[in-house]
Amino acid sequence: MIVDVVVGLQHGDEAKGKITHQLCKNYDYDYVLRFNGGGNAGHTIYHHGKKFITHYIPAGVFHGIKSIIGNGCVINPKHLMEEMRDLAYAGIDTKNLVRIASNCHVITDEHLEEDGRDTRIGTTKRGTGPAYRDKYSRDGLRAKDVPELEDYVIDLYETLHKDRDTKILCEGAQGFELDIDWGDYPYVTSSHTTVASALLNGIPPQAIRNVWGVAKVYDTYVGTKNFEPEGVAFPRLRDIGEEYGATTGRPRQCNWLNLDSLIKSLAINGVTQVVFNKTDVLQELGEFKLIYNNKVQEFSSLKQMCDYIEVRIPSPVRARIKRILYSGDKHGMDIAA
Ligand code: IMP
Ligand code: MG
Repeated sequence: MIVDVVVGLQHGDEAKGKITHQLCKNYDYDYVLRFNGGGNAGHTIYHHGKKFITHYIPAGVFHGIKSIIGNGCVINPKHLMEEMRDLAYAGIDTKNLVRIASNCHVITDEHLEEDGRDTRIGTTKRGTGPAYRDKYSRDGLRAKDVPELEDYVIDLYETLHKDRDTKILCEGAQGFELDIDWGDYPYVTSSHTTVASALLNGIPPQAIRNVWGVAKVYDTYVGTKNFEPEGVAFPRLRDIGEEYGATTGRPRQCNWLNLDSLIKSLAINGVTQVVFNKTDVLQELGEFKLIYNNKVQEFSSLKQMCDYIEVRIPSPVRARIKRILYSGDKHGMDIAA
């Protein structure tokens, strides 16, 4: 088994969908496996110039690759079916490609209602948190117990461990700073967002080849805590970068890239390839700043800022990193195999 993993290094919305989409083009995966989260995720993908937003369905479907929603996820059957219908309508086959782990937990109407009342965390109101809570309190409902999912349900062990050389791309949702343990609790999501979370979906650790860590050259966050500092740069950054939630349409709070947090996230995820997205946005803004040692550092160009980042990554972390890529094109990038 060969496994590549894509993880978010910040607060989600790092344009992981774009990287997954590109990796699917460059490598011949047998499966794409979403390993955490629920309908709270919003993946924006440009496929043949057309914009798609998916919440559940892994990006593999755009390339005809079998796409599995793993047991680390929680799903709302109605929303999932709607998403499949929408994609089918746009000419993307999902019926033959999308599969759901039998032991994946289900978001019920009660979960949706409860999450809909949240004002404390600023959740996406998709029922994600209550579904995970019931999973852990052993009160939950699983995909294999929902008749309308019958055609899609698989045994993840049987599927992934059948052949010797199965190639899998594990696609994470959200990002390191939203991890239930490593994020700024309680302003976090209810699942694990690190590479460890991929392993929980039946992946043996030795199978991992590459860990693609995805970041933006600045930072954004959606939720109730105060994240965006004062300053005219940030509303401009939001507009240029179109920083509005893919799931809820909420404006994302903006800030400079936090290099302190990023280093931690690279270290804990064992990242082997780093992608910094949305360089075009910072170029258009014309201000190049980041936070390091809790202080804002300013640069005269993006190049100078990138050089600074690469030098500050501590050597044990840097030693694992094979490549650092920068991308300023939302439609995609070439990740040559
Ligand atoms: P929940 O995951 O809906 O419970 O929301 C918990 C926190 O995570 C809130 O601050 C959400 O805005 C944030 N969040 C959850 N999923 C995403 C995502 O995919 N992108 C960005 N923020 C997210
Ligand atoms: Mg998103």
